[in-house]
Amino acid sequence: MHRRDFLLTAAALGATSLLPAAPARASRRRVRLGMIGTGMRGQVLLHELLRRDDVEVAALCDIEPIMLKRALEMAEKAGKPTPKAYGEDGDAHAYRRLLAQRGLDAVLIATPWEWHAPMAIEAMQAKLAVGCEVVAGVTLKDHWDVLEAQQRSGMPYMLLENVCYRRDVMAALQMVRAGLFGELVHLQGGYQHDLRGVKFNSGNPNEPYDSGVEFGPKGWSEARWRTEHSVRRNGELYPSHGIGPCAMYTGINRGNRFTHINSFASKARGLHEYTVEKSGGTTHPSTQVRFKLGDIVTTTLACENGETILLQHDTSLPRPYSLGFRVQGTKGLWMDLNQSIHIEGRSPPHKWEPFQAYQDQYDHPLWRKYAETAAGAGHGGMDYFVIHAFVEALKAEAPMPIDIYDALAWSAITPLSEQSIAEGFKTLEFPDFTRGQWRARKPIFAFDAKY
Ligand SMILES: NC(=O)c1ccc[n+]([C@@H]2O[C@H](COP(=O)([O-])OP(=O)(O)OC[C@H]3O[C@@H](n4cnc5c(N)ncnc54)[C@H](O)[C@@H]3O)[C@@H](O)[C@H]2O)c1
Repeated sequence: MHRRDFLLTAAALGATSLLPAAPARASRRRVRLGMIGTGMRGQVLLHELLRRDDVEVAALCDIEPIMLKRALEMAEKAGKPTPKAYGEDGDAHAYRRLLAQRGLDAVLIATPWEWHAPMAIEAMQAKLAVGCEVVAGVTLKDHWDVLEAQQRSGMPYMLLENVCYRRDVMAALQMVRAGLFGELVHLQGGYQHDLRGVKFNSGNPNEPYDSGVEFGPKGWSEARWRTEHSVRRNGELYPSHGIGPCAMYTGINRGNRFTHINSFASKARGLHEYTVEKSGGTTHPSTQVRFKLGDIVTTTLACENGETILLQHDTSLPRPYSLGFRVQGTKGLWMDLNQSIHIEGRSPPHKWEPFQAYQDQYDHPLWRKYAETAAGAGHGGMDYFVIHAFVEALKAEAPMPIDIYDALAWSAITPLSEQSIAEGFKTLEFPDFTRGQWRARKPIFAFDAKY
């Protein structure tokens, strides 16, 4: 690893060496962070940052005055020094001034998808470490460009994929590593989340999400930008929550890799029906829009080591939230939907068992250690862990647990699935962003109880 100047704060505190941490000294180190995008997600991340003593949030940028104001108020309420603010003038490139602020070690990016690649690239060029919300980019070229910027700059890059830190997902990881499922054969996951109320709203940021049918400039939060992706694109638009855990289970980029991908898309009905129902007719402009995104997009990946992985994107129909994980090997399987498990030789033949006893037995050491601290963090606590991992890896100058190669392989599923659908559900070869390094790279994610 390179020595990194984001440990400057260690020097400021009188440390004589910037070499990798002795545990006793690690707690004295702090990182100075900037945040780009302080919307709904940015504020959740900010909440996690503000309650840490080892983080100084030194800069915030958002082009929505109300969102920037909310974030500044959060810092004030937490009793922290006021971060420098950028973007009040609505300048879409105000983040460049944030990147130029002296003394920053890293930046978190929680903006609309189309901004992730350019912002991450410019941040790394400015010698800042990057924690990027899911996804890494939009086009396949974006992904290669992010890789190039990371390799040229040598700066750490982490995809802030929080579902990898979900408690049951991590217990299942322990079970995989203990060989409980035998040799893995097939996995499933997805993003199955009714987003109709997120994609359309009243345009009033003080009203609940499912309160209208506006989107684009008339909406607010994700209706401003995410809905447009459903108009223009047809593919697996949000792969990382589902694929992240499956990739960790199967060691993708670390002894394994995706070799092939294809996607099928169903017809698109849900969003149109929703606008008609919500507006009570067919005259509102939102009811005139033709949505390209199929209601259910099903993607299959083949892996070098012989596993198949099935992902489903399902955000336009009525349904309770479920990521639909299934981890199946030669000795049994776990499914998260009914929280049940079957292990041959341990479970009664042909019967499901409740997951809870296994959850308790295989609870990940991180959760055993930090469950209380994580309580109250977003998404059932997992948002605590993703921020914790990013900050601790920075402080220790250790490799990011969800690194650039993970980010690119997971996120490139989107443009590849779009291409597959556009070409008649064609099976495509999956690019190898590691350029062969996947053979020798060793798994590192969540191997100890530190982060
Ligand atoms: N990991 C998770 O669980 C999770 C959950 C929700 C959202 N997300 C991701 O977080 C990101 C943000 O989503 P969100 O729900 O907060 O959306 P949002 O619309 O509420 O917030 C995005 C913010 O970015 C700001 N922005 C847009 N362009 C900008 C620019 N050029 N410079 C500065 N700020 C700009 C907007 O004004 C807005 O406040 C997305 O990538 C989304 O997919 C992740």
